[in-house]
Amino acid sequence: MAYERKNFRLASSSCFLFCTLFHIFITASAAAIHFETSNETDYQSLLDIKGLIQGDPFQALSSWNDSIHFCDWRGVTCGLLHQRVTVLNMSSFYLVGSLSPSVGNLTFLRELNIQDNDFHGMIPEEVGRLFRLQYLRFANNSFEGELPLNITGCSELSILDLRGNRLIGGIRDDLSTLSKLYALSLSRNNFSGSIPPSLGNISSLQILNMSRNNLGGNIPAEIGWLSNLHVLELSSNRLLGAVSPQLYNISTLQIFSITNNLLSGQFPATVGLTLPNLTLFLADLNQFFGSIPTTLANAS
Ligand SMILES: *[C@@H]1O[C@H](CO)[C@@H](O)[C@H](O)[C@H]1NC(C)=O
Ligand SMILES: *[C@@H]1O[C@H](CO)[C@@H](O)[C@H](O)[C@H]1NC(C)=O
Ligand SMILES: *[C@@H]1O[C@H](CO)[C@@H](O)[C@H](O)[C@H]1NC(C)=O
Ligand SMILES: *[C@@H]1O[C@H](CO)[C@@H](O)[C@H](O)[C@H]1NC(C)=O
Ligand SMILES: *[C@@H]1O[C@H](CO)[C@@H](O)[C@H](O)[C@H]1NC(C)=O
Ligand SMILES: *[C@@H]1O[C@H](CO)[C@@H](O)[C@H](O)[C@H]1NC(C)=O
Ligand SMILES: *[C@@H]1O[C@H](CO)[C@@H](O)[C@H](O)[C@H]1NC(C)=O
Ligand SMILES: *[C@@H]1O[C@H](CO)[C@@H](O)[C@H](O)[C@H]1NC(C)=O
Ligand SMILES: *[C@@H]1O[C@H](CO)[C@@H](O)[C@H](O)[C@H]1NC(C)=O
Repeated sequence: MAYERKNFRLASSSCFLFCTLFHIFITASAAAIHFETSNETDYQSLLDIKGLIQGDPFQALSSWNDSIHFCDWRGVTCGLLHQRVTVLNMSSFYLVGSLSPSVGNLTFLRELNIQDNDFHGMIPEEVGRLFRLQYLRFANNSFEGELPLNITGCSELSILDLRGNRLIGGIRDDLSTLSKLYALSLSRNNFSGSIPPSLGNISSLQILNMSRNNLGGNIPAEIGWLSNLHVLELSSNRLLGAVSPQLYNISTLQIFSITNNLLSGQFPATVGLTLPNLTLFLADLNQFFGSIPTTLANAS
C-alpha cells in the first residue's frame, strides 16, 4: 500500500483523471466485496436457522432452497437496496426446534416474528446484536430459561412480546433502557421476583402485560409515571399490599387489571374521575375492602 501511494504521488501531476477513476474503482470494488460478504452472511444465517428446525409438518420451509434467491423464501423480506433481510416472519409455521444463535447475524432485521410455533430451548444471547430490531414477537412458543442479558442491545425495540412461553427468573431493571418500547408483554410465563420500579422510566410504554406469572412484592408507585399507558395487566400473580394512589392516576388507562393477586386496601373515591377512559377495571380475587366508588359511573 505504501509503495502504491508513493507511485501515485510521483505520477499525481500528470494523471489527475486516471487517479480519480482509479480511486472510484477501488471504492466501488471495496463496496462490492462488503456487499457480497453481507448478503452471504444473511444467506448462511437463514440456513443455520433452518438447520435447527426439527419438525416442519406443513413444509412451511420448503421454499428455503437454492432454486430461488433467499429474499424470495417464504417469510423473508429483504431491503431493496442491499438485499439484506429486514423482516423474518415465520408466525404460525408450526415449526418445532430451537432458534439458531446465527439469528444475531441478520443485523438488518427490523422485525422478527416467530410467534405461534414450538421453539424451545433458550432465547439466544445473540438476539441482542439486532440493533435495528423494532418488533420482537416470540409469543406462544416453549422458550425456557431467563430473558437474555443482551436484549438491551436491541435499543430500537418497540414491541417485546414473549407471552406464553416458559421463561423464568427476574424481570431485570435494565429493561428500562429500552426507551422506545411501546408494548412489553411478558404474560403467561413463570417470571418471579418483583416488578422493577425502573419500568416507570419507559415513558413511551402503552401496553404493560405481565399477567399470569409468579411476580411478588408491591406494584411500584413508579409505574404511575407511565403517562401514556393504555393497558396495565398484572392479573394472576402474587402481588402484595396496597396499590399506590399514583396508579389510579394514569389518565390514559383503558384497561386496568389487577385480578387474582394479594392486593389490599381501598379504592380511591375519585377513581372514575382520574381514569376517564376506562373500559375494563378488574380487581376481583384480592383482599380489598370498603365500597365501590360511585365515581366509576363517570368513566363513560
Ligand atoms: C450476493 O450478492 C452478489 C452481488 O450481487 C451476488 O452475486 C450473489 O449471488 C449474492 N449472494 C446471495 C447468497 O444472494
Ligand atoms: C424449492 O423451492 C421452490 C420454490 O418455492 C419449490 O417450487 C420447490 O418445490 C422447492 N424444492 C424442493 C426440493 O423442496
Ligand atoms: C451481546 O451484545 C453485544 C452488543 O450488542 C454484542 O457485541 C455481543 O456480541 C453480544 N453477545 C452475544 C453472545 O451475541
Ligand atoms: C397464542 O395462543 C392463544 C391461545 O391458543 C391465542 O388466543 C393467541 O391468539 C395466540 N397468539 C398470540 C400472539 O398470543
Ligand atoms: C395479556 O396477555 C394475555 C396473553 O398472555 C392476553 O390473553 C391478554 O389479552 C393480554 N391483555 C391485554 C389487555 O392485552
Ligand atoms: C414456576 O417457578 C416456581 C419457582 O419460582 C416453581 O415452583 C413452579 O413450579 C414453576 N411453575 C411452572 C408452571 O413452571
Ligand atoms: C429513571 O431514570 C432517571 C434518569 O436516568 C434515574 O435517575 C432514575 O433513577 C430512574 N428511576 C428508576 C426508578 O429507575
Ligand atoms: C394525580 O394527578 C394530579 C394531576 O395530574 C396531581 O395533581 C396529583 O397530585 C396526582 N396524585 C397522585 C396521587 O399522584
Ligand atoms: C380519552 O379518549 C379520548 C378519545 O379516544 C381521547 O381523545 C382523550 O385524549 C383520552 N383521554 C385521556 C386522558 O387519555
